[in-house]
Amino acid sequence: MKIETILTPAELPALAQRDLRATACVVFDVLRATSTFVTALHRGAKAIIPVSEIAEALEIKSSEVRSQKPEFILLGGERNGVRISAGGIDFDLGNSPREYTPEKVRGKTIVSTTTNGTRALRACADAQTVLAASFLNLTATAEFLRREHFENILLVCAGTGENQADEDVLASGALCEFLVGLSRCDDRTAQRAIPILSDSAQIALRTYLAAKPDLATAVSSSENARRLLAIPELREDVSFCLQRDICPLVAKMDADGAIRVG
Ligand code: MLT
Repeated sequence: MKIETILTPAELPALAQRDLRATACVVFDVLRATSTFVTALHRGAKAIIPVSEIAEALEIKSSEVRSQKPEFILLGGERNGVRISAGGIDFDLGNSPREYTPEKVRGKTIVSTTTNGTRALRACADAQTVLAASFLNLTATAEFLRREHFENILLVCAGTGENQADEDVLASGALCEFLVGLSRCDDRTAQRAIPILSDSAQIALRTYLAAKPDLATAVSSSENARRLLAIPELREDVSFCLQRDICPLVAKMDADGAIRVG
């Protein structure tokens, strides 16, 4: 098993030139897209459809409405961190995981567009497998990857705007720790399966191990954390998204582009 990490969103366009048919892409947008998608699925949402553009979301909503009851399709996402209003339409949800309550999302399909997370997921669409990951479902994701014995694993950090997002690098480092088995198993058979880490994956692992004693402080100084902490109604999203394994599920993007419990 070879593990590589895409550290910045600037590397995403190059994915279109890569053959990802033997690669599992694991997308991290800790603050907040993938954390929100995992929370919504954990709270009973049927599926999340990630799209890049607002117009796409509106188009899918109107086409989906033709095939099923409108109330089963919700529009979610953000621009500049806040809920979207476009074309005279107010989206049903923003991108705060705390908004995605069981009452609101159970049995619903959510079409979501965000600045970085949904673009990163779309950029991986041709991969063998695409997972949405976060600290909220880290162990379930790691165990799935071990179980499935993927040849290549690409950890994709969605970033913030055009910049690297520390929280995504830290989460991908935490997953590396798991997969290398540093924290769990030390018997001979596991030794044979120790993954080969690319330099970028080693950078993520070292960054995580250095920040692990006080992850909250490390993350709170990141660009997006500072933005969210400055918005009173969104500040609690930062601590929410740093919780470990409160959503023990695998969030897998299916061939139709929808993310469901895997
Ligand atoms: C993104 O996709 O860019 C982030 O999730 C934005 C956010 O939720 O603040």
